[in-house]
Amino acid sequence: MGGCGSAATGEKSDKQVFIDSLLSTMSLEAKVGEMTQLTLGAILQKEKKKIIEPQDFDSLRAAEALIEYQVGSILNCGNHAHTPAKWHEFITGIQERAALKESRIPVLYGIDAIHGPTYTSEAVLGPQQIGLAATWNEELVRKNAAATAAQVAACGIPWNFSPVLDLGRDPRWPRFWETFGEDPLLASRLGVAMVDGYQNGEVPFAATLKHFFGYGFSLSGKDRTPAWIPERELREYFLPSFKAAIDAGAMSIMVNSGEINGIPVHANRHLLTDLLRDELGFKGVVVTDWADIKYLYKRHKVAEDYKEATRMAIEAGIDMSMVPLDLEFSEALVELVQEGTVSEERIDLSVRRILNMKWELALFETGGMPPALQNYPDKSRFEGTAARAALESITVLKNEGQHAVYPDRPILPIGGTGKVFVTGPTAHSLNALNGGWTGTWQGNNPLYNTPGRPHLAEAMAGHFGADRIVDAPLTMDFDSEDIDRIVRSIKTARPACVVLGLGEMPYTEFVGNDEDLSLFSNQKELVRTIHALNVPIVGVFIEGRPRTFADIEPLMDAVVMAYLPGDYGGQAIAQVLDGSYNPSGRLPFTWPRHPSAHLTYDHKHADRFEPDSSGGFYPQYPFGHGLSYTTVEYSNFSLKDSIYHLGDTIRGTVEISNAGERTANELVLVFAQDHVASITPSVRRLRDFKRVYVGPGETVTYDLKLPISDLSFVHRDLKDRVEPGAFTLVINEITADFKVE
Ligand code: BGC
Repeated sequence: MGGCGSAATGEKSDKQVFIDSLLSTMSLEAKVGEMTQLTLGAILQKEKKKIIEPQDFDSLRAAEALIEYQVGSILNCGNHAHTPAKWHEFITGIQERAALKESRIPVLYGIDAIHGPTYTSEAVLGPQQIGLAATWNEELVRKNAAATAAQVAACGIPWNFSPVLDLGRDPRWPRFWETFGEDPLLASRLGVAMVDGYQNGEVPFAATLKHFFGYGFSLSGKDRTPAWIPERELREYFLPSFKAAIDAGAMSIMVNSGEINGIPVHANRHLLTDLLRDELGFKGVVVTDWADIKYLYKRHKVAEDYKEATRMAIEAGIDMSMVPLDLEFSEALVELVQEGTVSEERIDLSVRRILNMKWELALFETGGMPPALQNYPDKSRFEGTAARAALESITVLKNEGQHAVYPDRPILPIGGTGKVFVTGPTAHSLNALNGGWTGTWQGNNPLYNTPGRPHLAEAMAGHFGADRIVDAPLTMDFDSEDIDRIVRSIKTARPACVVLGLGEMPYTEFVGNDEDLSLFSNQKELVRTIHALNVPIVGVFIEGRPRTFADIEPLMDAVVMAYLPGDYGGQAIAQVLDGSYNPSGRLPFTWPRHPSAHLTYDHKHADRFEPDSSGGFYPQYPFGHGLSYTTVEYSNFSLKDSIYHLGDTIRGTVEISNAGERTANELVLVFAQDHVASITPSVRRLRDFKRVYVGPGETVTYDLKLPISDLSFVHRDLKDRVEPGAFTLVINEITADFKVE
């Protein structure tokens, strides 16, 4: 699809001619309507504010919003997933009404289909972004996004509020799992891949980069609370993922709901216009987050009332307001223009961008009507991709062999013929595997689960054979009586090992705020009690953020992180545990050892001046960590030259050997250390990564090619450039030194 650029020649494109002529016929009310987005629930029948089931339009409200106020965009789902047929009914009803309004412009429907079509029943749900990040596989990310686009567009919805390009640098933040983890380079590459998959697939479909920007790094770690991030740091860490995806042609951006340095981002012209438009050249649509103009006066207290808040947000640079429940925004904006506070040219600027996006999404060709229902894609086309992503994400963090039951080898893969006991609070829940934004906003209502998809215990029975699995369900709030029951069952079953589904049940946004990052005390007690029975324990974390568990980690023989792997996650975990897949997932974040001891891998030297042996940095598991069932070794790392100049590319090789008996899906991580710099350098920064396959007994030569420009950092003048001096490259803890002159 064509992106949002203007024609290079002086002549107007068909699109420009069309938009110009349409705009010239639009009333102020029609223009403001285009800038207004309501939630579906606002036009559905309700009783005492609750949507009536089965859901249907409230014909008066729908007519008022869509025909009288000419609302240009609708979002969300009326609280839960719908069948493709129901989606067709909704979209058709909306577009039929839109065709009756004065401007007759089709409505742009947007949704949060963040790990597959989250609000379409029986669709294919892959891993959440934190799990996708653990695959470090751009092509898989692209394919999963393309599958989402094909299914969501077939419902008649052409706009997705995804990907999240905020960084997950603070695991306290409840939206950590919606990110690609802590590193700017990883988030940039996977973000570009996701945008590519959404926008350049078989159907017109738009991505939204959210939430622009610095959202995930508040002081308190809680959702939508104040952040203090100097502009240099904003640009160094939080901007690259957005910049890369803007350069890749992303069609829209959603704004960060929070405040940074005392200024709500929705009112920050410097970030939304000077930086985003003038410097980064973003030409697409900027949409607010949920009710965020209203919050300028209700929550942030920077405006007296709605009208002032609206003026601030428009002046800052927003194009569309996710209002989402009333028509006050439209009224306030019309008034602001009529009294001359906001110019009609400013309104035209935003409306042009919205019409451009509607053109790119072919809404003027189709009237926004959904494609024929009989063409809804067969889900078997996408299941393989989702299942593969889940499989490649599962990360083995610990695998030891000191246990009496398995004296000679690590516990994984679980071999033999003995019974496997499966329990723990996440082992019997498909909701746990999927996380938030699944079927419902919070993702915790089993009514909307995909029929037939197995949770962990069912998948274990499928892979190990039902006769080998003994399972005992637990809920999150299990107590000592439940633990006693489990102990009795284990004693009776005498299993070869216990597989424990640990972690969290789903949450979304502020609902997941938490005062304590520690693993829940009842789960720790469960581990301690089972350990005392002298049975090997395989702990499987199904959770969106790394909860700390240092005190019980030594009691588990193996530890596996499954993240939120989606509908195919149960079988993916089982395939790693039974050894039919050689694990390849790698942590896209640093796992803290203690709740208050979190540092990202790219911390500063001064973060570790404590004079103890750990040097102040002792994570539970480091960024990039992940074990496999084979032994890979790196050797002979050498660079072609030892001195480079600014425009050069570093070239070198490293040999990667597989001494084991299984093919390795190895992840090569290239870190750089800048020895001395005018802004304190990080101890290391990830500068490149690549997956390579190494067969059993094979040695492959990895060719390193790293442009010197990739070693740049943001200086005091906020410009990004490389500073000459001494550097070291680190690949799998082998180093090579060079100089930039
Ligand atoms: C979230 C966004 C989401 C929007 C629409 C907001 O509460 O912050 O990420 O896209 O709702 O559902």
